[in-house]
Amino acid sequence: MHPKPNSTPPAKHLVLLDTDPGIDDAMAIHYCFAHPAIRLLALTTIFGNVYTKQATRNALFLCEQAHATIPVSHGADKPLAIPPNPPAHFVHGDEGLGDLPAQPAKTKPDPTPAHEMLATTIRTHPNAITLAAIGPLTNIARLIAHDPAIPALTKKLVIMGGAVDCAGNVTPHAEANIWNDPHAADQVFAADWAIDMIGLDITAGVECQPSLFASIKEGAPEIGGFLKDIAEFYIRFYSGVIGRNVCLLHDPTALITLTQPDAFGFEEIPLRVICEGDEIGATRRDTTGKRRPARVAKKVDAEVVRHNFVDICRKADTMRDERNAC
Ligand code: BDR
Ligand code: CA
Repeated sequence: MHPKPNSTPPAKHLVLLDTDPGIDDAMAIHYCFAHPAIRLLALTTIFGNVYTKQATRNALFLCEQAHATIPVSHGADKPLAIPPNPPAHFVHGDEGLGDLPAQPAKTKPDPTPAHEMLATTIRTHPNAITLAAIGPLTNIARLIAHDPAIPALTKKLVIMGGAVDCAGNVTPHAEANIWNDPHAADQVFAADWAIDMIGLDITAGVECQPSLFASIKEGAPEIGGFLKDIAEFYIRFYSGVIGRNVCLLHDPTALITLTQPDAFGFEEIPLRVICEGDEIGATRRDTTGKRRPARVAKKVDAEVVRHNFVDICRKADTMRDERNAC
């Protein structure tokens, strides 16, 4: 059968997203829903910015907001080996959505645990799925323990996390996602799969100004208006940290590596994670010669990323309405 001349082309990127929404996670999720080249297959949730229970509720709400009927699976409630750190309410708000109160969701999570949902979906589409992890890596470590063939069946794992040649953001050494479960992250970097690590080496330079959120709202009054509202809290936090009226687009940048690959430069580096002591959570070069190098993002054209983020999110309401019409 021939496709209708003006029908939407099949999505280029089949994506499973593991997430702790979280303000920049919500931005990344709506970026994915609004991008015609991305098809989100499921969301799986993890603690970090909020407790996993809140992450699951927020993920369900965000899917409902985009009129997207995809499974949302609840993930691990605590790290593999260390006691959980408190949620980052001071960065993302008490409920993970800035100043907004808890947003009710009518839908329920899929009963399948996150790591099993990931395994089953990857096995259904062998070598075709990009797994994007934009929270602590506990679910991903459980996934490869549960089904050790998964790394070989996954097209690529994109991680937002780590800081290789720059300072951390929760300690002088560690980035938040890796610090929240260093043992999980080390197991994930030790496995034999194609990893793109998008860390603070570049995301610390991808700033977004309030005027750009106003532009997103102009293009997409409902979803864009929501993104603008939640960004206010995040901008207040980052203004205090970096002294400019901006926020950083950590999680959206990781997804934008899929759609705007020419805006990034990578270096191949085998990685390990420090799992104890003062430097716990630091991502370091592994020198054993036993680990497959990850592609670590070291260069970014922040202007391209920022503008792509805005252009795509401006279409969020239109894409939601088209999804409705299908
Ligand atoms: C990462 O930590 C969280 O606060 C953000 O959502 C992002 O995934 C940045 O260090
Ligand atoms: Ca996140």
